[in-house]
Amino acid sequence: MASRYPFALIKEKLHARRHEISDFAIGARRLALPPELAEWLRSNPDLALKPASPDAVSDFKDAAISLLQQEYGVSLGREQIVPMPGGRVAMTAIAACMLHPGDNVLVTEPGYPAFARLAAHWHAGVSSVSLDPLQSFAPDLSALPLSDLEKVRIFSLNYPNNPTGAVLSADARRSILDAAADVNALVFNDNVYGPLTYESRPTSLLADSADAELIELHALTKLYPLGPQGASFLAGSTEAMQKIATYAEFAWSPKSALKIQATTWCLRDVDGRAKIKSFFRTAQSAARGFDGNRFRALSNTSGNLRVVPTASLDRRQAREHRGGGCADPDGRI
Ligand SMILES: Cc1ncc(COP(=O)(O)O)c(C=O)c1O
Repeated sequence: MASRYPFALIKEKLHARRHEISDFAIGARRLALPPELAEWLRSNPDLALKPASPDAVSDFKDAAISLLQQEYGVSLGREQIVPMPGGRVAMTAIAACMLHPGDNVLVTEPGYPAFARLAAHWHAGVSSVSLDPLQSFAPDLSALPLSDLEKVRIFSLNYPNNPTGAVLSADARRSILDAAADVNALVFNDNVYGPLTYESRPTSLLADSADAELIELHALTKLYPLGPQGASFLAGSTEAMQKIATYAEFAWSPKSALKIQATTWCLRDVDGRAKIKSFFRTAQSAARGFDGNRFRALSNTSGNLRVVPTASLDRRQAREHRGGGCADPDGRI
């Protein structure tokens, strides 16, 4: 397990070499806030000092419900949504409410690293399962002995996946949810990149979760540069959301009216979301032609793109030449 949050380390290194480096990370894009939202923020700084009113929170939940319906075709009620101060804070709440010391969680490798660390802080055992590049980066659950699978309390997933960009096929979603239901595990899917899906309709596991217990994390912080003013939300069963909302009341001061209302604005910005997605699609197409001396752009089977240093490609080619590498249709290094 990483000794420090890897993205904090990356940011420190990027900052130290800021004059000589190109940063391709989604969160580092050149998109500005929509002018109407920027103007609203400038006109309402006092809201940063006020807690969000119950009406503003209900309005946020209604906007979240509409987003889930429009993007993913999922219908939930207000009692199934809990606003969260941020993505990692939401994961902290899941660990606190859903894990007991000694429970096991299953994470993926590669995968966004926060939940594994938070679960370990909660004295849970952490096992990891590989994402299989030959199966569009779906987790290879068959690699885990049934006795280990039976001990898992939470399957922690992140689709669309950071870092591979992969999305799960309908079959893969079904088999994960069935496997979790068989061993009474909760599935947690971090869906913060959900709207940035290009080759198919964005998917949410909430649409498929008939039998399995499921919590999904949503946020628009990858689309709107609100920084710490962006709220996220958790969605799931009424019972699970009730537990998390109660934990939140004990654990955190109320979220500011500015944070809740600014995010509500973004959740309702249907046309703006389409424009932002098309901005990234265009940026991807431009990057596909990118073939510099030091970097090359590679597509994977789900239509997403990674820019990799040519030095690592050369190393891979040399390995394959020596017979040490394996053919990888998704261009994984
Ligand atoms: C997949 C994924 N989930 C969650 C987060 C963190 O969200 P937040 O900054 O709201 O804590 C990130 C940040 O990069 C991420 O890539």
